[in-house]
Amino acid sequence: MTGRDDYQSGSGGCGEILRSGFGKNGGNCEQNVAHRPVPPPTSTSLATPEEMHKEQQHLLEVVTAFLEYSKFAGMELERRWVHLGRLPEHYAKLLPPHSLAPALREHRKAIVDNQAFLNAVVRGVHEIAPAEGILDQAQKQLARQATLAPRQILTSPANMTKIYATLHSCMREWSEEGAGERAACFDVILDALVEFLPVDDSNRGRQRVLVPGAGLGRLPLEVVGRGYACQGNEFSYFMLLTSNFLLNHGESAKSLRLFPFAEQSCNLVRLGDNVRPVLVPDVSPAEMLREREVEEGPTEEERSANAKARDGRKREAPRGRGPEMKLEVGGEKGEDRDEEDGYGEQECHDAAHLPRKCLTPDFSMTAGEFLEVYGEQRGCWDALVTCFFLDTAPVVFEYMETIHRLLRPGGIWINFGPLLYHWKGGGPMGVGEEEDERFRRSVELSWEEIRHVMTGQEGEGGGAFRFDMKREDFCGPVTYAADPTSMMRTVYDCVFFVAAKKGGEGDRGDAEWLAPQAPVQGNVKRALNI
Ligand SMILES: C[S@@+](CC[C@H](N)C(=O)[O-])C[C@H]1O[C@@H](n2cnc3c(N)ncnc32)[C@H](O)[C@@H]1O
Repeated sequence: MTGRDDYQSGSGGCGEILRSGFGKNGGNCEQNVAHRPVPPPTSTSLATPEEMHKEQQHLLEVVTAFLEYSKFAGMELERRWVHLGRLPEHYAKLLPPHSLAPALREHRKAIVDNQAFLNAVVRGVHEIAPAEGILDQAQKQLARQATLAPRQILTSPANMTKIYATLHSCMREWSEEGAGERAACFDVILDALVEFLPVDDSNRGRQRVLVPGAGLGRLPLEVVGRGYACQGNEFSYFMLLTSNFLLNHGESAKSLRLFPFAEQSCNLVRLGDNVRPVLVPDVSPAEMLREREVEEGPTEEERSANAKARDGRKREAPRGRGPEMKLEVGGEKGEDRDEEDGYGEQECHDAAHLPRKCLTPDFSMTAGEFLEVYGEQRGCWDALVTCFFLDTAPVVFEYMETIHRLLRPGGIWINFGPLLYHWKGGGPMGVGEEEDERFRRSVELSWEEIRHVMTGQEGEGGGAFRFDMKREDFCGPVTYAADPTSMMRTVYDCVFFVAAKKGGEGDRGDAEWLAPQAPVQGNVKRALNI
């Protein structure tokens, strides 16, 4: 596997897009995280019935891939079993006792557990997309296939690679085993965020941070944990389905077991390295958010009712279900968003089941292609955070221009990642060129060129997007969703920078900021669903 493939399968590999502009309307397609999800997008967020049909087809393929994992992985396991079975007896008996049948049994168990996890994830499909009956449809299709052609797989190898990449990302973003990878990039970003956009009591939860290419949502959640309002954006159904499950289904810490590298049979140091389990989520997202809650004290009435309940010991305090309870009863995000402090109100229950108000951090995800979802916003974000994302652009100018437009003057862009351009394709006769027009547009700029475009003097052709480079560094070696025990890991020397959009707040010299067509408030409202 080349470095490029490794990164693709671990990240861009998940980048199957929501087709046809699903989620053009940032308000409609908002996926509410740790809140009851807002209704799925209506047909109006898709341009034509034909596009909607394509979208449904794509979603059906994704759902099918989730459901077909164990069949695909099982066939690979069978291949290994058959090949090992062909070993002459005098070779086979030289292997350690836990090799062969016991090892393959372990492997099979891992596949079964992974399938259980994927089944649970895909059950939430209707929560993130207009998907009535789609699960049923996929199941019927698979049942038909099992009868007619039991050894055929409906899912393309490319989509199955995305399932594998999704499992790898679970390790990266939501397991203890991924802590090292997260520390190497998320912590660098978060430290810079806190340094350049300090949080204090006056602005806690009010400064708005956007994280495009949010993957499974861990980075945006960490941003919220530092005292910001944060929105993640993601266009891959593989990622969106899984993040919806991990973030919204109230899973307690380490309650789910999966085997992220079960498909690997090469570069294993020890027998069984590919079936090492990880427990996800390493922390409960609800707990993390709860730590950030700002609770209003109970009213007098509530206080006395509470006291009565306690005295009479009429009700047991629910144990270990606090955050989940809150999520179950929570109103839709932002329904009563408090403009003053950036926290949305929702009803929650205290230990004695008495409703009261608490203020939850502003955290959401939007589903859709970054440029489309945020195409109309202007100057309404305090910070943009891109982690392993910049190189997902076919034409990186478009991302730079959009990020510049989205930031308020003085707002900061923090980037961390390599430049492994996802749409480069395989060259003139390479694979994929005809499949997606983005392969035909891909432009691969060096860091020097990107930097010049951002900061160079206008007379020299650069500086078009008017950023001040505040910090610039190369960080490495960094891995991406890599098996820490494997003999083969791709390492990156990532470019990390902090850049500020030129022009201080209210700087009247910033023509774009003052442009009459800039409907800042309207766009903020729509994106944050307030
Ligand atoms: C390499 S992953 C990085 C994920 C996460 N930021 C991390 O560091 O773990 C890039 C993510 O961006 C998403 N992505 C790529 N292009 C996108 C686009 N144009 N709009 C929205 N999401 C995109 C992919 O689906 C993928 O989940």
